[in-house]
Amino acid sequence: MLIPHSHPVFDSSFTQATTQIVQSGQLAQGETTTKLEQRISQSLGVQHTLAVDSGTSALMLAIRALTNHKPLARVGIPTYACASLLFAVKNAGATPVFLDCTDDLTLNAEHVFSAAKTLDVLVLVHPFGMVEPLVKATFACPVIEDIAQTVGATLGGQQVGTFADVCIGSHYATKPWGGAYGGFISSPDVSLIDKCKTMTNPDAADLNAAYVGHHQLSNIHAALAVERINQADDERKHRQAWAQKYDILFAQTSASPIKSCTQSVANDFRYLVRTALDADIIIQTLRNMGVGASKPVQQPLHHSDSTIQCPTADDAWQHCVSLPLLADMCDAEFQQIEQGIQTCFPS
Ligand SMILES: Cc1ncc(COP(=O)(O)O)c(C=O)c1O
Repeated sequence: MLIPHSHPVFDSSFTQATTQIVQSGQLAQGETTTKLEQRISQSLGVQHTLAVDSGTSALMLAIRALTNHKPLARVGIPTYACASLLFAVKNAGATPVFLDCTDDLTLNAEHVFSAAKTLDVLVLVHPFGMVEPLVKATFACPVIEDIAQTVGATLGGQQVGTFADVCIGSHYATKPWGGAYGGFISSPDVSLIDKCKTMTNPDAADLNAAYVGHHQLSNIHAALAVERINQADDERKHRQAWAQKYDILFAQTSASPIKSCTQSVANDFRYLVRTALDADIIIQTLRNMGVGASKPVQQPLHHSDSTIQCPTADDAWQHCVSLPLLADMCDAEFQQIEQGIQTCFPS
């Protein structure tokens, strides 16, 4: 049996919430979608929220709103991040500008400040449950804060998602606020949220609009997301307890856990380590021992353009490993993981 890398837990409250929606006969967008939007605004302490069909759509719509659909707008994105970022930029008709990371997997500040001079939008991602400290900096271009993996974390006591002009998140099943599919855009600027909203419903759209897609979130998806938000704090505490056990284990090994920046409190979404060894070999060995380890990202995004070099992201790709950090992990599973760690990372 393989201990999965990610594994959302759906208890009976999810069944009840979705059954009620089915019985109501209103499965498409409706009151529960609105309830989710209010819940997100309240949890983040940001005034306005629009729920949409995915985090990728949220990002694409926010980029379109901030650039006024400018063709080939230059959008800075971390290269060591999930592929959705690249496709959101492309789907917005924009051009990605790849930003390299540091050894702790946040952005290389020097690289960002230099690139930002020519950017139309900068996307700052809080990676893998850790905090991106650059959200505290000021940039000439608008900034989107991506909290898909890191919702609930703080920097200097302030919640992530509240630093930039706009923030986006995801309700994809494995995310900390995951239901099945979905995403959201939050901002203190109501006009920005309204701009995004006009792009989500073809039936209500101006026929000459530059872009509109079917991006509304259904009641049924919203119900799953609300339920996950209700449970997110408890799940996070469980993950945190397992992360602390990992810390004790790794203190005896040759690999180093990757930690969130100073003054931050992470949400322990992922447990990442860096090893001098080849990550692919380690991951395969752990999988053979029943431990669903994975690369933190499938591929750095600058690999889509052979002219771009981001050496620190390439190094991370070769040497970083993500281990199972599950809210419902049991002692027996952790013992199995412990054996894998002792085999792969001897002291
Ligand atoms: C950091 C980050 N942003 C955005 C997304 C896109 O979210 P979704 O899967 O809901 O489209 C993801 C998804 O993996 C992500 O990890």
